[in-house]
Amino acid sequence: MARVVTEHVRQIGKHFLSERMLTELSNIRTRHAMRCSFLDAFLECLLDKHEGRYGNRTYLALPLLELLLDDQHAEVSPDRLSTLLVSDAIRFELETAGGSPEPPSRGRPDPVTLRKRLRHAVRFVVADRSGPDGVDLEDGVDQLPRPPATDAGRWFDVTVQPVYVLHDEYFFIRLLQTHEMLFTAIATDIRTAIGALRDGQLEAGVERIDHATAVFERAAILFRIIATMRADQFSTFRQFTQGASAIQSEQYKRFEILCGLPPAPRLHSPAFTSVPAVRDEAENAAHDTITQAYLDLRGAGAFGQAEWTLLDAALGRLEARHQRWKSTHRSLAVRMLGDAHGSGYTDGVPYLTKCVKNRLFWQLSAQ
Ligand code: HEM
Repeated sequence: MARVVTEHVRQIGKHFLSERMLTELSNIRTRHAMRCSFLDAFLECLLDKHEGRYGNRTYLALPLLELLLDDQHAEVSPDRLSTLLVSDAIRFELETAGGSPEPPSRGRPDPVTLRKRLRHAVRFVVADRSGPDGVDLEDGVDQLPRPPATDAGRWFDVTVQPVYVLHDEYFFIRLLQTHEMLFTAIATDIRTAIGALRDGQLEAGVERIDHATAVFERAAILFRIIATMRADQFSTFRQFTQGASAIQSEQYKRFEILCGLPPAPRLHSPAFTSVPAVRDEAENAAHDTITQAYLDLRGAGAFGQAEWTLLDAALGRLEARHQRWKSTHRSLAVRMLGDAHGSGYTDGVPYLTKCVKNRLFWQLSAQ
Protein backbone atom coordinates (compact mmCIF):
# COMPACT_ATOMS: atom_id res chain seq x y z
CA MET A 1 0.00 0.00 0.00
CA ALA A 2 2.75 2.49 0.99
CA ARG A 3 4.52 1.99 -2.36
CA VAL A 4 1.37 2.58 -4.40
CA VAL A 5 0.52 5.70 -2.39
CA THR A 6 4.10 6.98 -2.75
CA GLU A 7 3.98 6.43 -6.50
CA HIS A 8 0.80 8.52 -6.61
CA VAL A 9 2.33 11.26 -4.42
CA ARG A 10 5.28 11.46 -6.84
CA GLN A 11 2.90 11.78 -9.75
CA ILE A 12 1.02 14.80 -8.38
CA GLY A 13 2.88 16.16 -5.32
CA LYS A 14 1.95 15.80 -1.65
CA HIS A 15 0.51 19.31 -1.64
CA PHE A 16 -2.09 18.24 -4.20
CA LEU A 17 -3.51 15.04 -2.73
CA SER A 18 -7.29 14.97 -2.94
CA GLU A 19 -9.45 15.40 0.17
CA ARG A 20 -10.96 12.00 -0.53
CA MET A 21 -7.60 10.26 -0.54
CA LEU A 22 -6.43 12.11 2.59
CA THR A 23 -9.58 11.10 4.44
CA GLU A 24 -9.11 7.47 3.40
CA LEU A 25 -5.49 7.55 4.58
CA SER A 26 -6.58 9.09 7.90
CA ASN A 27 -9.07 6.23 8.33
CA ILE A 28 -6.37 3.66 7.59
CA ARG A 29 -4.17 5.30 10.21
CA THR A 30 -6.92 5.16 12.81
CA ARG A 31 -7.71 1.51 12.07
CA HIS A 32 -4.30 -0.07 11.44
CA ALA A 33 -1.34 2.10 12.36
CA MET A 34 -1.29 0.94 16.01
CA ARG A 35 -0.24 -2.46 14.70
CA CYS A 36 2.75 -1.24 12.71
CA SER A 37 5.04 1.58 13.84
CA PHE A 38 6.39 1.97 10.27
CA LEU A 39 2.92 2.46 8.82
CA ASP A 40 2.14 4.93 11.60
CA ALA A 41 5.31 6.94 10.88
CA PHE A 42 4.66 6.80 7.13
CA LEU A 43 1.15 8.21 7.55
CA GLU A 44 2.28 10.73 10.15
CA CYS A 45 4.52 12.21 7.45
CA LEU A 46 2.07 11.90 4.61
CA LEU A 47 -0.81 13.54 6.49
CA ASP A 48 1.22 16.42 7.91
CA LYS A 49 -0.20 19.14 5.64
CA HIS A 50 -3.72 17.76 5.94
CA GLU A 51 -3.52 17.80 9.75
CA GLY A 52 -1.75 21.18 10.02
CA ARG A 53 1.52 19.71 11.36
CA TYR A 54 3.73 20.23 8.32
CA GLY A 55 7.42 20.88 9.11
CA ASN A 56 10.98 19.83 8.37
CA ARG A 57 10.66 16.59 10.32
CA THR A 58 7.72 15.25 8.35
CA TYR A 59 8.82 16.76 5.00
CA LEU A 60 12.02 14.72 5.36
CA ALA A 61 10.22 11.59 6.67
CA LEU A 62 12.55 11.59 9.68
CA PRO A 63 10.18 9.50 11.86
CA LEU A 64 10.53 6.67 9.32
CA LEU A 65 14.29 7.03 8.92
CA GLU A 66 14.73 7.03 12.70
CA LEU A 67 12.86 3.73 12.93
CA LEU A 68 15.29 2.33 10.39
CA LEU A 69 18.20 3.55 12.51
CA ASP A 70 16.68 1.95 15.62
CA ASP A 71 16.06 -1.40 13.94
CA GLN A 72 18.29 -4.07 15.48
CA HIS A 73 18.24 -6.31 12.40
CA ALA A 74 19.08 -3.57 9.92
CA GLU A 75 22.24 -2.45 11.80
CA VAL A 76 22.43 0.89 10.00
CA SER A 77 24.38 3.74 11.63
CA PRO A 78 23.61 7.39 10.80
CA ASP A 79 26.90 7.54 8.83
CA ARG A 80 25.92 4.51 6.80
CA LEU A 81 22.40 5.77 6.25
CA SER A 82 23.84 9.00 4.84
CA THR A 83 25.66 6.89 2.22
CA LEU A 84 22.49 4.93 1.42
CA LEU A 85 20.54 8.17 0.95
CA VAL A 86 23.03 9.72 -1.46
CA SER A 87 23.38 6.40 -3.31
CA ASP A 88 19.62 6.37 -3.79
CA ALA A 89 19.73 9.93 -5.15
CA ILE A 90 22.40 8.83 -7.66
CA ARG A 91 20.29 5.87 -8.77
CA PHE A 92 17.28 8.16 -9.19
CA GLU A 93 19.27 10.57 -11.38
CA LEU A 94 20.65 7.75 -13.52
CA GLU A 95 17.30 6.01 -13.92
CA THR A 96 15.48 9.18 -14.94
CA ALA A 97 18.32 10.16 -17.30
CA GLY A 98 17.95 6.71 -18.86
CA GLY A 99 14.29 7.38 -19.66
CA SER A 100 12.41 6.08 -16.63
CA PRO A 101 8.68 6.72 -16.13
CA GLU A 102 9.33 10.35 -15.15
CA PRO A 103 7.87 12.56 -17.95
CA PRO A 104 10.23 15.16 -19.54
CA SER A 105 7.91 17.95 -18.30
CA ARG A 106 9.47 17.49 -14.86
CA GLY A 107 12.61 19.21 -16.09
CA ARG A 108 15.51 16.76 -16.01
CA PRO A 109 18.96 18.34 -15.74
CA ASP A 110 21.01 18.86 -18.90
CA PRO A 111 23.94 16.44 -19.36
CA VAL A 112 26.58 18.89 -18.03
CA THR A 113 24.61 19.61 -14.85
CA LEU A 114 23.86 15.93 -14.39
CA ARG A 115 27.53 14.98 -14.73
CA LYS A 116 28.52 17.57 -12.13
CA ARG A 117 25.78 16.43 -9.76
CA LEU A 118 26.81 12.81 -10.08
CA ARG A 119 30.52 13.56 -9.72
CA HIS A 120 30.05 15.24 -6.33
CA ALA A 121 27.50 12.68 -5.17
CA VAL A 122 29.83 9.80 -6.02
CA ARG A 123 32.63 11.58 -4.16
CA PHE A 124 30.38 11.68 -1.10
CA VAL A 125 29.60 7.97 -1.35
CA VAL A 126 33.20 6.93 -1.92
CA ALA A 127 34.25 8.90 1.17
CA ASP A 128 32.28 6.40 3.30
CA ARG A 129 34.45 3.97 5.17
CA SER A 130 31.71 2.82 7.54
CA GLY A 131 30.55 -0.13 5.41
CA PRO A 132 32.18 -3.55 5.59
CA ASP A 133 34.48 -2.85 2.60
CA GLY A 134 34.00 0.85 2.07
CA VAL A 135 32.53 1.73 -1.31
CA ASP A 136 34.29 1.31 -4.63
CA LEU A 137 32.45 2.56 -7.69
CA GLU A 138 35.11 1.52 -10.19
CA ASP A 139 32.94 -1.42 -11.18
CA GLY A 140 29.90 0.76 -11.85
CA VAL A 141 26.72 1.82 -10.10
CA ASP A 142 25.77 -1.74 -9.24
CA GLN A 143 28.28 -1.26 -6.46
CA LEU A 144 26.16 1.46 -4.89
CA PRO A 145 24.98 0.21 -1.52
CA ARG A 146 21.30 -0.50 -0.98
CA PRO A 147 19.29 -0.53 2.23
CA PRO A 148 19.23 -3.87 4.04
CA ALA A 149 16.61 -6.36 2.87
CA THR A 150 14.91 -6.41 6.26
CA ASP A 151 11.37 -5.33 7.17
CA ALA A 152 12.72 -1.91 8.19
CA GLY A 153 14.89 -1.60 5.06
CA ARG A 154 11.86 -2.08 2.83
CA TRP A 155 10.38 1.21 4.09
CA PHE A 156 13.41 3.14 2.84
CA ASP A 157 11.93 3.53 -0.66
CA VAL A 158 8.88 5.41 0.61
CA THR A 159 10.85 8.08 2.47
CA VAL A 160 10.68 10.61 -0.39
CA GLN A 161 7.31 12.37 -0.53
CA PRO A 162 7.82 15.47 -2.73
CA VAL A 163 5.37 18.34 -2.29
CA TYR A 164 5.44 19.02 -6.04
CA VAL A 165 6.38 17.29 -9.28
CA LEU A 166 9.70 18.84 -10.34
CA HIS A 167 12.71 16.60 -10.86
CA ASP A 168 15.14 18.35 -8.51
CA GLU A 169 13.00 18.01 -5.39
CA TYR A 170 13.88 14.31 -5.08
CA PHE A 171 17.58 14.85 -4.59
CA PHE A 172 16.93 18.00 -2.51
CA ILE A 173 14.98 15.85 -0.02
CA ARG A 174 17.63 13.10 -0.04
CA LEU A 175 20.41 15.62 0.67
CA LEU A 176 18.58 17.27 3.54
CA GLN A 177 17.93 13.82 5.01
CA THR A 178 21.65 13.12 4.65
CA HIS A 179 22.40 16.35 6.48
CA GLU A 180 20.27 15.12 9.41
CA MET A 181 22.15 11.82 9.52
CA LEU A 182 25.56 13.49 9.48
CA PHE A 183 24.59 15.84 12.28
CA THR A 184 23.23 12.89 14.27
CA ALA A 185 26.71 11.35 13.95
CA ILE A 186 28.45 14.62 14.81
CA ALA A 187 26.28 15.17 17.91
CA THR A 188 27.12 11.64 19.10
CA ASP A 189 30.84 12.38 18.63
CA ILE A 190 30.61 15.55 20.70
CA ARG A 191 28.63 13.82 23.44
CA THR A 192 31.26 11.06 23.59
CA ALA A 193 34.06 13.64 23.63
CA ILE A 194 32.50 15.35 26.67
CA GLY A 195 32.39 11.99 28.47
CA ALA A 196 36.04 11.29 27.63
CA LEU A 197 37.19 14.71 28.87
CA ARG A 198 35.23 14.32 32.09
CA ASP A 199 36.93 10.90 32.55
CA GLY A 200 40.33 12.54 32.21
CA GLN A 201 40.96 10.96 28.79
CA LEU A 202 41.94 14.02 26.83
CA GLU A 203 43.39 12.22 23.82
CA ALA A 204 40.24 10.13 23.38
CA GLY A 205 38.21 13.35 23.57
CA VAL A 206 40.40 15.03 20.96
CA GLU A 207 40.02 12.01 18.69
CA ARG A 208 36.23 12.25 18.81
CA ILE A 209 36.30 16.00 18.18
CA ASP A 210 38.54 15.41 15.15
CA HIS A 211 36.16 12.72 13.94
CA ALA A 212 33.29 15.24 14.16
CA THR A 213 35.39 17.68 12.11
CA ALA A 214 35.99 14.99 9.48
CA VAL A 215 32.25 14.23 9.23
CA PHE A 216 31.67 17.99 8.86
CA GLU A 217 34.07 17.96 5.92
CA ARG A 218 31.94 15.27 4.31
CA ALA A 219 28.83 17.37 5.05
CA ALA A 220 30.37 20.21 3.05
CA ILE A 221 30.20 18.03 -0.10
CA LEU A 222 26.40 18.22 0.20
CA PHE A 223 26.53 21.91 -0.69
CA ARG A 224 28.46 21.13 -3.90
CA ILE A 225 25.74 18.67 -4.89
CA ILE A 226 22.90 21.00 -3.95
CA ALA A 227 24.54 23.83 -5.92
CA THR A 228 23.56 21.91 -9.08
CA MET A 229 19.88 22.42 -8.25
CA ARG A 230 18.18 24.72 -10.78
CA ALA A 231 17.12 27.93 -8.97
CA ASP A 232 13.91 28.14 -11.02
CA GLN A 233 12.90 24.62 -9.96
CA PHE A 234 13.71 25.46 -6.34
CA SER A 235 11.66 28.66 -6.34
CA THR A 236 8.74 26.77 -7.87
CA PHE A 237 8.54 23.87 -5.44
CA ARG A 238 9.40 26.00 -2.39
CA GLN A 239 5.98 27.67 -2.78
CA PHE A 240 4.68 24.45 -1.25
CA THR A 241 7.36 23.96 1.43
CA GLN A 242 6.56 27.06 3.47
CA GLY A 243 6.79 26.10 7.14
CA ALA A 244 9.42 23.38 6.59
CA SER A 245 12.98 24.66 7.01
CA ALA A 246 16.30 23.27 8.20
CA ILE A 247 16.07 25.90 10.95
CA GLN A 248 13.96 23.15 12.58
CA SER A 249 16.83 20.64 12.34
CA GLU A 250 17.12 19.28 15.87
CA GLN A 251 20.40 17.48 15.24
CA TYR A 252 22.17 20.60 13.99
CA LYS A 253 21.06 22.58 17.05
CA ARG A 254 21.85 19.65 19.35
CA PHE A 255 25.40 19.64 18.02
CA GLU A 256 25.60 23.36 18.78
CA ILE A 257 24.35 23.10 22.39
CA LEU A 258 26.75 20.22 23.07
CA CYS A 259 29.67 22.45 22.08
CA GLY A 260 28.56 25.28 24.36
CA LEU A 261 25.42 27.11 25.45
CA PRO A 262 24.54 29.75 22.86
CA PRO A 263 24.33 33.36 24.11
CA ALA A 264 20.85 34.31 25.40
CA PRO A 265 19.82 36.35 22.31
CA ARG A 266 20.39 33.31 20.05
CA LEU A 267 18.73 30.92 22.50
CA HIS A 268 15.63 33.11 22.42
CA SER A 269 15.67 33.78 18.68
CA PRO A 270 13.95 31.71 15.93
CA ALA A 271 17.14 29.62 15.80
CA PHE A 272 16.00 27.91 19.01
CA THR A 273 12.31 28.74 19.27
CA SER A 274 12.06 26.58 16.10
CA VAL A 275 13.45 23.59 18.05
CA PRO A 276 11.71 23.78 21.46
CA ALA A 277 12.80 20.28 22.54
CA VAL A 278 16.48 21.16 22.02
CA ARG A 279 16.07 24.50 23.78
CA ASP A 280 14.62 22.63 26.79
CA GLU A 281 17.65 20.32 26.75
CA ALA A 282 19.96 23.33 26.72
CA GLU A 283 18.14 24.88 29.67
CA ASN A 284 18.17 21.68 31.72
CA ALA A 285 20.54 22.09 34.68
CA ALA A 286 22.05 18.64 34.00
CA HIS A 287 23.00 19.51 30.41
CA ASP A 288 26.76 19.32 29.83
CA THR A 289 28.90 20.88 27.10
CA ILE A 290 32.46 20.77 25.81
CA THR A 291 32.84 24.38 26.95
CA GLN A 292 31.70 23.60 30.51
CA ALA A 293 33.94 20.54 30.72
CA TYR A 294 36.87 22.61 29.45
CA LEU A 295 36.32 25.39 32.00
CA ASP A 296 35.87 22.94 34.92
CA LEU A 297 38.94 20.89 34.01
CA ARG A 298 41.07 23.95 33.39
CA GLY A 299 40.04 25.32 36.79
CA ALA A 300 41.00 21.99 38.39
CA GLY A 301 44.38 21.91 36.56
CA ALA A 302 43.44 18.49 35.17
CA PHE A 303 45.88 18.41 32.23
CA GLY A 304 49.37 19.62 31.35
CA GLN A 305 50.09 22.44 28.88
CA ALA A 306 50.88 20.05 26.01
CA GLU A 307 47.47 18.43 26.41
CA TRP A 308 45.66 21.77 26.51
CA THR A 309 47.44 22.71 23.31
CA LEU A 310 46.14 19.52 21.68
CA LEU A 311 42.58 20.21 22.79
CA ASP A 312 42.72 23.89 21.80
CA ALA A 313 43.91 22.89 18.33
CA ALA A 314 41.10 20.33 17.91
CA LEU A 315 38.45 22.85 19.01
CA GLY A 316 39.99 25.42 16.66
CA ARG A 317 39.70 22.96 13.74
CA LEU A 318 36.05 22.22 14.55
CA GLU A 319 35.22 25.93 14.88
CA ALA A 320 36.96 26.73 11.59
CA ARG A 321 35.15 23.92 9.81
CA HIS A 322 31.79 25.13 11.15
CA GLN A 323 32.58 28.69 10.06
CA ARG A 324 33.34 27.45 6.53
CA TRP A 325 30.14 25.40 6.52
CA LYS A 326 28.07 28.47 7.50
CA SER A 327 29.70 30.72 4.89
CA THR A 328 29.16 28.19 2.10
CA HIS A 329 25.54 27.72 3.18
CA ARG A 330 25.01 31.47 3.14
CA SER A 331 26.52 31.80 -0.36
CA LEU A 332 24.23 29.05 -1.59
CA ALA A 333 21.22 30.85 -0.10
CA VAL A 334 22.28 34.13 -1.77
CA ARG A 335 22.30 32.31 -5.11
CA MET A 336 19.12 30.30 -4.70
CA LEU A 337 17.01 32.63 -2.60
CA GLY A 338 18.17 36.20 -3.30
CA ASP A 339 16.02 38.62 -1.31
CA ALA A 340 13.24 36.15 -0.54
CA HIS A 341 12.30 35.14 2.99
CA GLY A 342 13.30 31.72 4.34
CA SER A 343 10.75 28.93 4.46
CA GLY A 344 11.32 28.96 8.24
CA TYR A 345 9.90 32.53 8.32
CA THR A 346 13.19 34.34 8.93
CA ASP A 347 14.25 37.23 6.69
CA GLY A 348 16.46 34.74 4.79
CA VAL A 349 20.01 35.79 3.89
CA PRO A 350 20.24 38.55 6.58
CA TYR A 351 19.45 35.87 9.21
CA LEU A 352 22.21 33.66 7.84
CA THR A 353 24.65 36.59 7.79
CA LYS A 354 24.08 37.04 11.53
CA CYS A 355 24.61 33.28 12.03
CA VAL A 356 28.06 33.50 10.41
CA LYS A 357 29.15 35.82 13.23
CA ASN A 358 28.28 33.29 15.96
CA ARG A 359 30.97 31.07 17.42
CA LEU A 360 30.53 27.60 18.98
CA PHE A 361 33.24 28.16 21.60
CA TRP A 362 32.62 31.87 22.21
CA GLN A 363 33.11 31.43 25.98
CA LEU A 364 36.59 29.98 25.44
CA SER A 365 37.94 32.65 23.15
CA ALA A 366 39.64 34.42 26.08
CA GLN A 367 41.39 31.21 27.27
C1 HEM B 1 18.66 25.95 -1.84
C2 HEM B 1 19.36 25.72 -0.83
C3 HEM B 1 19.18 26.36 0.51
C4 HEM B 1 18.67 27.58 0.84
C5 HEM B 1 18.14 28.64 -0.08
C6 HEM B 1 18.70 27.69 2.29
C7 HEM B 1 18.24 28.77 2.99
C8 HEM B 1 18.16 28.83 4.37
C9 HEM B 1 17.55 29.90 5.12
C10 HEM B 1 16.95 31.17 4.53
C11 HEM B 1 17.64 29.58 6.43
C12 HEM B 1 17.12 30.41 7.60
C13 HEM B 1 15.89 29.80 8.17
C14 HEM B 1 14.66 29.97 7.30
O1 HEM B 1 14.00 31.01 7.36
O2 HEM B 1 14.33 29.01 6.57
C15 HEM B 1 18.30 28.32 6.52
C16 HEM B 1 18.61 27.66 7.68
C17 HEM B 1 19.33 26.51 7.74
N1 HEM B 1 19.72 25.73 6.67
FE1 HEM B 1 19.52 26.14 4.74
N2 HEM B 1 19.24 26.56 2.79
C18 HEM B 1 19.54 25.72 1.74
C19 HEM B 1 20.10 24.48 1.80
C20 HEM B 1 20.50 23.89 2.96
C21 HEM B 1 21.18 22.63 3.02
C22 HEM B 1 21.55 21.74 1.82
C23 HEM B 1 21.41 22.40 4.33
C24 HEM B 1 22.10 21.24 4.94
C25 HEM B 1 22.97 20.51 4.31
C26 HEM B 1 20.88 23.49 5.09
C27 HEM B 1 20.92 23.60 6.45
C28 HEM B 1 20.40 24.64 7.17
C29 HEM B 1 20.44 24.74 8.61
C30 HEM B 1 21.07 23.74 9.56
C31 HEM B 1 19.79 25.91 8.97
C32 HEM B 1 19.62 26.48 10.38
C33 HEM B 1 20.70 27.54 10.61
C34 HEM B 1 20.58 28.17 11.99
O3 HEM B 1 19.45 28.38 12.46
O4 HEM B 1 21.61 28.47 12.57
N3 HEM B 1 20.34 24.38 4.23
N4 HEM B 1 18.61 27.88 5.25
